[in-house]
Amino acid sequence: TEPILVAIDGPAGSGKSSVSRAAAEQMGFGILDTGAAYRALAWLSLHTETDLEDEAAVLALMDAWSYRTTLQGEQLIGIVLADGEGYDTFDVTSEIREPEISGQVSRVSKHPQVRERLNAMFREIVATSGLPGVVIEGRDITTVVAPDAPVRILMTASPEVRATRRQGELPGATHEQVLADITARDAKDAAVVDFLNPAPGVTLIDTSDMNFGQSIQAVIDTVEEARGARP
Ligand code: C5P
Repeated sequence: TEPILVAIDGPAGSGKSSVSRAAAEQMGFGILDTGAAYRALAWLSLHTETDLEDEAAVLALMDAWSYRTTLQGEQLIGIVLADGEGYDTFDVTSEIREPEISGQVSRVSKHPQVRERLNAMFREIVATSGLPGVVIEGRDITTVVAPDAPVRILMTASPEVRATRRQGELPGATHEQVLADITARDAKDAAVVDFLNPAPGVTLIDTSDMNFGQSIQAVIDTVEEARGARP
């Protein structure tokens, strides 16, 4: 049977990733972090000196790669790349979180055919997960990847709060720098998909005044409500 889908979108620093992960764990669901796939593809493009602006070149790279991710427990991200003679494997779990990747990723995620290919991959990963439910989080999950999901959430927080949260992950960066970085990335990403306003039927969760535990509970409550409402 198909897993129950919980679709969560939101901007950088909204708490979406960490909250989705914790909520999924508490519910016994898997978690698919779609941003990690965009980051892995940006990493691979840079690693192979592929022009990130060249959609055809990035698509060719996608013909040669296979993306691996864990859906439960510790998040591990891997890439297997066919190199003509054999395969190269890369563990990119930590490297895809580097500011270098955050600064470049919008250049690959803006390509429509790249998005289509990744979306097909996401649906395949979820369908073959064998899990009772999967939380899938990103920017266009509630609108494009899984518009029919029984639970759809847009998680937001004020830019100041988001910058403060991100700053905790980036030692050495000033509040102003982090705020400028996430605002610039959101502007680029929002030009491609709207994740700043909830689509019709999408539940808005603003975590500006919520702590981590309250944010997790808000997600779980939304899931419980939707499941209770199901026939
Ligand atoms: O969620 P995270 O910040 O890790 O996402 C990294 C980047 O991947 C975003 O800045 C965006 O360019 C891209 N992305 C996307 N669509 C998604 C998830 C991520 O375009 N569903």
